[in-house]
Amino acid sequence: MQDLSLHILDIVENSINASATEIRIKIVEDTKENILSIEISDNGRGMDEEMLRKVHDPFFTTKCKRTGLGIPLLAQSAKECNGDLAINTGPGIGTTISARFQYDHIDRKPLGDICKTMIVLIASNPDVDFIYEHRRNDNSYALNTAEIKKELDDVPINLPDVIKIIKDDISAWLISTNIMIQ
Ligand SMILES: Nc1ncnc2c1ncn2[C@@H]1O[C@H](COP(=O)(O)OP(=O)(O)OP(=O)(O)O)[C@@H](O)[C@H]1O
Ligand SMILES: [Mg+2]
Repeated sequence: MQDLSLHILDIVENSINASATEIRIKIVEDTKENILSIEISDNGRGMDEEMLRKVHDPFFTTKCKRTGLGIPLLAQSAKECNGDLAINTGPGIGTTISARFQYDHIDRKPLGDICKTMIVLIASNPDVDFIYEHRRNDNSYALNTAEIKKELDDVPINLPDVIKIIKDDISAWLISTNIMIQ
């Protein structure tokens, strides 16, 4: 996996497979604390203790056409740059995956195209509510598709014109804050 956005896509796919209807993606880039953190929470079916134990093993999967590498690969990427991965989960309470990275570590993968990742997720899962929160030092951004859907009334959120507005909004914030994160 070349960048963290692709890891995010992979972890969110787990949430969708677990029948989540609400998925929160929270990214913090803090150059003063020298930390980049990613937290993905869902209200899906969650994992019991036995499954949680196994999930750290590469090749553990409950899906027939899967490789079972999503979580172990993210854990490895975090470990490679002085970070860690934590999982909080339980049947009926959903799942939260938190990964932390040393921001300036030489081996830290770039965040990559997080705007594209969010757009792909929102456009291809119109029935799931996504909450995207992103902080870059003192600048914060938040987007909640449940609120957008309320304003849209019967207009589908994945209508190309709507998707373009969301994309431009995320992208404008990313560009305006990029300088502050160098
Ligand atoms: N958010 C989640 N909610 C419930 N179960 C989960 C969640 N994330 C992972 N799991 C369980 O852990 C297993 C392993 O997840 P992991 O992402 O490592 O591999 P995978 O999704 O099975 O395969 P791959 O990601 O390589 O396509 C999943 O098959 C699923 O059973
Ligand atoms: Mg997976």
